[in-house]
Amino acid sequence: MIPVEVLITGAGGRIGAHLARTLSSAGHRVRALDLPGNKALRHLGSEPDVEIFAGDITDIASVRDAVAGVDVICHLAAALTTHDVGDQSFVDANLNGTFNMLVAARETAPGLARFVYVSSDAVYWPGLTRRPLYLPIDESHPLTAGSIYGATKVGAEAMCHAFWSTYGIPFTIVRPTATANPSELLDPVSPFGRRWFLDSAIGWLESHPRTAAEDQLLSELGRVGGATDRLLLLTDSEGAASLTMITDARDAAEGLRATIETPEAVGEAFNIGPEAPHSDREFVEELGRRLDMQVVEVRYEAVRPSWYVSSAKARAVLGYQATHSVFDMIDEAIGSGDK
Ligand SMILES: NC(=O)c1ccc[n+]([C@@H]2O[C@H](COP(=O)([O-])OP(=O)(O)OC[C@H]3O[C@@H](n4cnc5c(N)ncnc54)[C@H](O)[C@@H]3O)[C@@H](O)[C@H]2O)c1
Repeated sequence: MIPVEVLITGAGGRIGAHLARTLSSAGHRVRALDLPGNKALRHLGSEPDVEIFAGDITDIASVRDAVAGVDVICHLAAALTTHDVGDQSFVDANLNGTFNMLVAARETAPGLARFVYVSSDAVYWPGLTRRPLYLPIDESHPLTAGSIYGATKVGAEAMCHAFWSTYGIPFTIVRPTATANPSELLDPVSPFGRRWFLDSAIGWLESHPRTAAEDQLLSELGRVGGATDRLLLLTDSEGAASLTMITDARDAAEGLRATIETPEAVGEAFNIGPEAPHSDREFVEELGRRLDMQVVEVRYEAVRPSWYVSSAKARAVLGYQATHSVFDMIDEAIGSGDK
């Protein structure tokens, strides 16, 4: 593909920062936008062909300069469930912020070849008490968002469709699964680590509003918790662990690069995940072996059911290929001395 000028919103985030480097290495010119004061954004300033923009997508005036005349927009900036923010932030950043980006594109980027909207597999998640209609979830699965975050992603996707049919802005939707950098898997206080480091799981539950089932879980965890930190494996009432997915942020960035460079992606939606799901049991037990930590198994009636998507469409149309399994991520994080 001939080099183009790409605006990345949320360029200081875990996926956006990799994407900025990936696109600049592929010869594209990058405009990197994130909130004023974002530290990772400042680091990107030393990359070749990366221009830094500070702005807030909830304030359209602050993003117009970044959007003006650009060829492609890759819109990642968002409020995430992992950041412990309220429902209003999801609506402000994900719904209104995406609307602002589309308006700014219509007004100031007349030659825009693509608006890539980074959505989420949360658009399919039906809520705590329900299960997906089938597994693996493909792009034809109904969008049954059962969380406010997921609902804002569904709404923003619909807005992209509407700007295409009303104003001719060509879009593509990308729906990553849970996505992490390897070091986050070993960090007890990261949004990922607090799921399997027992002390962090207890601290998290203690400091947040809880459902009745979580109250029960907290008292059970308090009973098994001890002087030394251990790893937590939650299983259902029969002792079965869920199948799930974690995507390496570098793979997600590669998927986005391929999306930008594939004309056939216009008007389409793509799941982006690892090659295959993994079992929570295999993952936590491997972590226990590698970190020399004991694993505590706790049965929990409200354990999240198995949840994984198919990236077959992205492989077929975009040539997407995930290259890091969650076990490779553990190897890498341990090898680089993160723990
Ligand atoms: N990480 C995941 O598990 C995951 C899973 C599915 C989808 N996604 C989606 O991928 C995208 C990127 O996620 P990430 O994991 O890199 O998250 P991240 O939190 O690391 O990055 C998001 C970036 O957006 C910026 N941002 C937030 N509000 C902003 C605003 N009002 N104006 C400008 N910038 C703002 C943040 O400062 C941050 O740098 C998001 O749209 C997210 O919803 C992430």
